[in-house]
Amino acid sequence: MQILDMNMINFRNLDDEHLEFDRRFNLFLGKNGQGKTSVLEAIYFTVTGKSFRTNKNKEMIKYGRHKMGAFVNYEDRIALKSISVKVDEKKKIYSYNRKHIKYDEFLGKLNIISFIPEDIELIIGSPSVRRSFFDYEIAQADPEYYLYLKSVSKLLKFRNKYLKDKNTADPMFEIYNSEFIKYASLIVKKRIDYIKNVSRLLSLNYRKLFDGEKELTLRYKSFLGELRSPTLEEIEGKIRKSYGEVKGRELRYGYSLIGPQ
Ligand SMILES: Nc1ncnc2c1ncn2[C@@H]1O[C@H](COP(=O)(O)OP(=O)(O)O)[C@@H](O)[C@H]1O
Ligand SMILES: [Mg+2]
Repeated sequence: MQILDMNMINFRNLDDEHLEFDRRFNLFLGKNGQGKTSVLEAIYFTVTGKSFRTNKNKEMIKYGRHKMGAFVNYEDRIALKSISVKVDEKKKIYSYNRKHIKYDEFLGKLNIISFIPEDIELIIGSPSVRRSFFDYEIAQADPEYYLYLKSVSKLLKFRNKYLKDKNTADPMFEIYNSEFIKYASLIVKKRIDYIKNVSRLLSLNYRKLFDGEKELTLRYKSFLGELRSPTLEEIEGKIRKSYGEVKGRELRYGYSLIGPQ
């Protein structure tokens, strides 16, 4: 896949820009504050619907304007394609080949990796930084995973509501709880499998880079501890057991204390 060119309107300090890219290598050179990082951000934004600098859409809209948009033309092995994202103060609109689509469909049309100095947060930052990074990485390649995340976050809200109201004796609680555990297990399983694959590739490439002298591996230590190759049933069993152990405390605090969230 290859990004060929892009247009941006009111993206930060860039008013109305058209950029064409070289197929192999592109270098942006300019004064401080000229908009180099904004160009990279605009590309990342058009591909993912998110920024690597902010999670507030409004921040990317040029000061004094109410809307912005970015549009990318790219080609894959088959054809020329385009994606775009438009933002106003309330909503985001995703398009693919000039037709509006939902985020679920938009996600993963093009894949992208950014590396900026702040990415060091991935190592030194809190677990939530790592979790959202990997959640996004996995979801890009696996639309099912994204649906699991959506289900778990919806079910977590129900679960927390029952805990907050100290209403867990209600039979409905167990229904939500079981569904929650089902999706939580699917998420944990996918994360374990994904990290295992990435770790394998990482150590292969790292060895190539350092003539086999050094080793780099990635391990996923979840709220269940470190599990090597568990089955879905084993994960589900462990999650159930863990919730059993924290039940008293969860009721006291009134929200879920553990989980994949
Ligand atoms: N929403 C916005 N509207 C207009 N200008 C902005 C907005 N957000 C940031 N800027 C300005 O855009 C400029 C571009 O910054 P940046 O892309 O980081 O430049 P560079 O990477 O070239 O140093 C900065 O001067 C910044 O103050
Ligand atoms: Mg910069």
